[in-house]
Amino acid sequence: MSQPYILVLYYSRKGSTAKMARALAEGVEQVSGIEARLRTVPAVSTVNEATAPAVPEEGAVYCTEEDLRHCSGLLLGSPTRFGNMAAPMKYFIDSTSGLWLSGALIDKPAGTFTSTSSLHGGQETTLVTMAIPLIHHGMLWAGIPYSHPELTSTTEGGTPYGASHVAGVKGNSELSTTELKLCHEQGKRIARLALKLHSA
Ligand SMILES: Cc1cc2nc3c(=O)[nH]c(=O)nc-3n(C[C@H](O)[C@H](O)[C@H](O)COP(=O)(O)O)c2cc1C
Repeated sequence: MSQPYILVLYYSRKGSTAKMARALAEGVEQVSGIEARLRTVPAVSTVNEATAPAVPEEGAVYCTEEDLRHCSGLLLGSPTRFGNMAAPMKYFIDSTSGLWLSGALIDKPAGTFTSTSSLHGGQETTLVTMAIPLIHHGMLWAGIPYSHPELTSTTEGGTPYGASHVAGVKGNSELSTTELKLCHEQGKRIARLALKLHSA
């Protein structure tokens, strides 16, 4: 049997959520016995199926149904758009009815992460609403516990609902030390939970 993996599935247009995804994957990889698999989803347009290339020009490759079916846990990331996940991620999730029907994701741990331009631009609403379809799938949504002191002291991103990043108006700021730490911790937590549930 192949090594268990946490699927780190993200959409990113300007690169901030992609940076977070790589940091979360680093956290996953710090836990022995499990690895991270980075995947993305294509952008959408009115003629989506006709225009998306089979392989993206940069970043992770596109996620398949099999990547999702066989994961031991999921970390789902999207930029915040009007306080909610971006349409390409929702579009992908809406294609997963087959997995819902077969119960393939039941009892697997899941976390959500997001990037915004502004501090109060809707990180928490995005993180919570991204969890809703995962809960429909029977997944066990986990955030970041307050045992991490950065959650209390942060003046940047980092929430109990999941990792977050304030990318700024230009959208190009680097992850702060606090944001990076909490990405690592969330990655580690989902990896550990997956291993515990796997052996149960
Ligand atoms: C259509 C649209 C809506 C957005 N809505 C919000 C928002 O509600 N709050 C916010 O702070 N930023 C908002 N942004 C900014 C993005 O969340 C921010 O630039 C994010 O870091 C982009 O992530 P990416 O670099 O992974 O694409 C929006 C951007 C777009 C294009």
